[in-house]
Amino acid sequence: MSITVRAPAKINLHLGVGAPRDDGFHPLTSVYQAVGVYDDLTVDDADGWSVDVSVSDWMDRSHVPLAGDNIVDRAAALLAAHHGLAISGDVHIDKAIPVAGGMAGGSADAAAALVALDRLWGANTTDDDLLALAAQLGSDVPFALLGGTALGTGRGEVVEPVADAGTWWWVLVPSPIGLSTPEIYRHFDRLFPDAPAVPPVPEALLAALAAGDPYALASALHNDLQAAALDLRPDLQLLIDAGEAAGALRGVVTGSGPTCVFLTESADDARETAAELRAAYDVVLVTTGAVAGAHTVTYV
Ligand code: C5P
Repeated sequence: MSITVRAPAKINLHLGVGAPRDDGFHPLTSVYQAVGVYDDLTVDDADGWSVDVSVSDWMDRSHVPLAGDNIVDRAAALLAAHHGLAISGDVHIDKAIPVAGGMAGGSADAAAALVALDRLWGANTTDDDLLALAAQLGSDVPFALLGGTALGTGRGEVVEPVADAGTWWWVLVPSPIGLSTPEIYRHFDRLFPDAPAVPPVPEALLAALAAGDPYALASALHNDLQAAALDLRPDLQLLIDAGEAAGALRGVVTGSGPTCVFLTESADDARETAAELRAAYDVVLVTTGAVAGAHTVTYV
């Protein structure tokens, strides 16, 4: 048996961050959107267990964690333990989501692994159990299962779909050099020692989504981690300025960065903005959201 599961990257339309909790994690109020940049994970029947990774041409392979500390190994161990099963399968991950880019690529792989291995092992895990296992693997993993557009609370792992009437066109510019998520959160703590216990829900942004209004959404985009990311990577401000000058309605850092995302008014505008940015930036992607969460694309 061979199963391929495709899982999307996420962007944050809003990321509100509070003061660190006792467990060190930060309370979040996040609005996630799944966009059409995917990692594909294929698992084949095997007696043993192996994981290998290939990456898109433009990506630096050295940034991908090696088997053993890959989040996919942890996903397999968790699912197997949940059912009292042995771990088996040959896994291949084909990565197109920027690594260490703030787009939850590792989380997408974990979500894809849960869905694929559940099938391969005939485990029939319930949706609720799968979401609970996902939450143990990382704050963004439940959203990678859910997809669409969703509000994330807790440390980001409690997700519920929100009304989204738009088809949103995005230009994404990853950076050749990744940023460390824990480092960005630590810098956020230094910059904002008075962050609230629970970040507020962004009502204007939710209204813009429900109305499908790109201008309203553009002005409501917000990321509390952006100041920390720009402090550590001042070059990102130049990128944001360049994208807005090239016609994007608005550009922001996504997640903990360094990927920047630009909302445009239409598919044509996205392509034009991307064409201008390509004069100065090597990797510029055009994509749309919202798209589905982790789902099976091949089953033979
Ligand atoms: O949950 P995940 O493994 O994705 O988190 C990676 C790191 O990001 C955590 O170890 C923590 O340093 C930071 N983080 C945080 N608060 C969150 C999510 C992540 O401080 N809500």
